Amino acid sequence: FEVNWDAEAAEKGGFEHFMLKEIYEQPKAIRDTMSCRIANDGTHVVFDELKWTPEDVKSIDKILITACGTAYHAGLLAKYFIEKIAKIPVEVDIASEYRYRDPLTDHKTLCIVISQSGETIDTLAALKEAKRRGARSLAVTNVLGSSISREADQVVYTWAGPEIAVASTKAYTTQLVALLLLSLYMGQLNGELDAELEGNILSDLMNVPDQCQQIFDHVEDIHAYANQFKEKEDVFFIGRSMDYALAMEGALKLKEISYIHAEAYAGGELKHGTLALIISGVPVIALATQRNVEEKMISNIKEVKARDAFVVGVVQEHDTEVAKCVDAIITIPKTSNFVVPIMTVIPLQLLAYYTAVVRGNDVDKPRNLAKSVTVE
Ligand code: G6P
Repeated sequence: FEVNWDAEAAEKGGFEHFMLKEIYEQPKAIRDTMSCRIANDGTHVVFDELKWTPEDVKSIDKILITACGTAYHAGLLAKYFIEKIAKIPVEVDIASEYRYRDPLTDHKTLCIVISQSGETIDTLAALKEAKRRGARSLAVTNVLGSSISREADQVVYTWAGPEIAVASTKAYTTQLVALLLLSLYMGQLNGELDAELEGNILSDLMNVPDQCQQIFDHVEDIHAYANQFKEKEDVFFIGRSMDYALAMEGALKLKEISYIHAEAYAGGELKHGTLALIISGVPVIALATQRNVEEKMISNIKEVKARDAFVVGVVQEHDTEVAKCVDAIITIPKTSNFVVPIMTVIPLQLLAYYTAVVRGNDVDKPRNLAKSVTVE
């Protein structure tokens, strides 16, 4: 009797790659990250690890968010969350840019750094620079005891569990959850957030882990798009508002593992240059989940359709208007504008994953990239 077992295969738990396993772990990771921060009756956020007072929040003049890669994209979304919910101005900067400019950071600034690993050298250096200029600091990280968690004044952990694949998935969605909860917490403390709105957002958020299953149920459609895109040289992602921030993450996912050139554009910027690249058959992923800019997105979709692009619309369930003007559709379960990005990214991760698989790439370890960049 001989037992042949492969430790790595065992760790992948039946999935072909870590990335796919981590995509499917998102419902649990999201649940773990939010459950300890929502009051038992579901009406409001509690952050036992922060214990801020209303004065603590009211004394913040400006929030600086700085990070790299996917974590930076989470920061871009957090700007929408914080400005809309807590009404505090937010600036988001790439850590390697922040540390080499002459930033206007002072003791009234709250610096939020986001880092899955907690070890990214540029993010750590940006945090030190913000602190040197007098800012208070908060780290959103996935690794207990990491360098960034030790350097920051306070820490909010994401409970994603270990992320092995180079392309970040569950770390990103849990960052979004943590940052949305943090926005609600700040809005609650500074009096900018209406209690009813908070309860509604939280109830939508608590539905997300179950709703993710509806996306997984349609994975075959995404597989089919991956087959269709495998020979393409360029893919464009367009969106407005929060969907623009997501478009950037969708493009990054696709390029880093499929090696297809992918770019994200704000819908309104198309006519300022990118339309020149839209020719017959070019895939355009049009993110149109945000109801307040839906009409504007429809006109952007018509602009690219007029050049004969192949448009995949990503919309919330029951959205028939966008469905009428696209070639294919990916549906996200119905929820509020603040919560939908947490689910919208999942089909984009799956699209990148399956495209990389059909192209025969090393999905978990893409060429030239590292999980954590700890040297400059
Ligand atoms: C590398 C990884 C990315 C990650 C980025 C920031 O580029 O490949 O997936 O988003 O570093 O890493 P961090 O650990 O700071 O979130």
